[in-house]
Amino acid sequence: MKDIYILGIESSCDETSVSIVKNGCDEIATVVLSQMDTHSNFGGVVPEIASRMHVENITIVIEECLNKAKMSMNDIDAIAVTYGPGLIGCLLVGVNAAITLSYIYNKPLIPVHHIAGHIYANNLVSKMEFPLIALVVSGGHTDLIYMEDDYKFKKIGGTLDDAVGECYDKVARVINVPYPGGPLVDKLSYKGKDTYPLPLPLDDNSYNFSFSGIKSAVINLVHNEIQRGNEIRKEDIACSFQSRVVEILTKKTMRALKEYNVKNLIIAGGVSANSGIRNNFIEICKEEGINLTIPNIKYCTDNAAMIASAGYFAYKKGIIAGFDLKAKATVSLF
Ligand code: KG4
Ligand code: ZN
Repeated sequence: MKDIYILGIESSCDETSVSIVKNGCDEIATVVLSQMDTHSNFGGVVPEIASRMHVENITIVIEECLNKAKMSMNDIDAIAVTYGPGLIGCLLVGVNAAITLSYIYNKPLIPVHHIAGHIYANNLVSKMEFPLIALVVSGGHTDLIYMEDDYKFKKIGGTLDDAVGECYDKVARVINVPYPGGPLVDKLSYKGKDTYPLPLPLDDNSYNFSFSGIKSAVINLVHNEIQRGNEIRKEDIACSFQSRVVEILTKKTMRALKEYNVKNLIIAGGVSANSGIRNNFIEICKEEGINLTIPNIKYCTDNAAMIASAGYFAYKKGIIAGFDLKAKATVSLF
């Protein structure tokens, strides 16, 4: 069978990334240009600056990726691009670059949902086995998804309010941890103890999540401690918060695996870089005989290798877009 090379483009937030992946699983070359240093001056991603930086960098990153792979556009079979969800100005840059390449080089254009990309980052570790449960934890999403086969996404639960990454970033701000908050709260949690009585978020029989309550609990806790003139033990807050988040994610995911009688679990999205989540799931899945896959840390957060991988499976399913492909700030995977 002929090898298929997909060139993926990702620009939905603050990373300009291009990657070439062979047959959906073998990464040939990836370039990720992060704007994090620029946005950290503002305490978060500034959409207007992000889209301008994508405009400045996109052609450079495409060229760099092809050079790194020692390939030309003639070697590429199709172009996959994140069309949503994300920051609209940022998405537009990637989508327009992909449409242009597709038009000039006469290659099929494959639209990829950003969350499908995060899920398929796991294919770069080992070929996903079905049926599986995917726990998606990112800055914008927290979902439990059942997949019976490639590109068949069935939502079995999700957050009713904040995404878990969003909550990490908010907690970071409240305890004065600089942007990017999530990874730093994670690090801090290992220096502290689980001493604060934070609630276990939405501990019910559903597969839904709710993180706004624990976020408010942290905000109230900090305000109360300040009013009483007490010292704020950031490490202990980070540890208590992370313990609750890990506990509820583990509890509901493991129950879903049992109820759906599934032996394969994948974790996806930026928050899958979290060491508490990784360590806890590795341990419990070993005990329960579950085949667990988590992307390598560099493919947990936004990158184009995951888009190229998802793009390959979309391509095989005949999901091809026209030159009128629109970027979408919000779009459901289901
Ligand atoms: O998937 P991603 O790169 O962007 C979205 O698609 O949303 O995820 C970014 C989110 C941010 O909220 C960031 O704080 C969080 O992932 N994050 C982490 C860690 N690394 C990234 N949260 C907790 N612990 C981490 N180690
Ligand atoms: Zn993402």
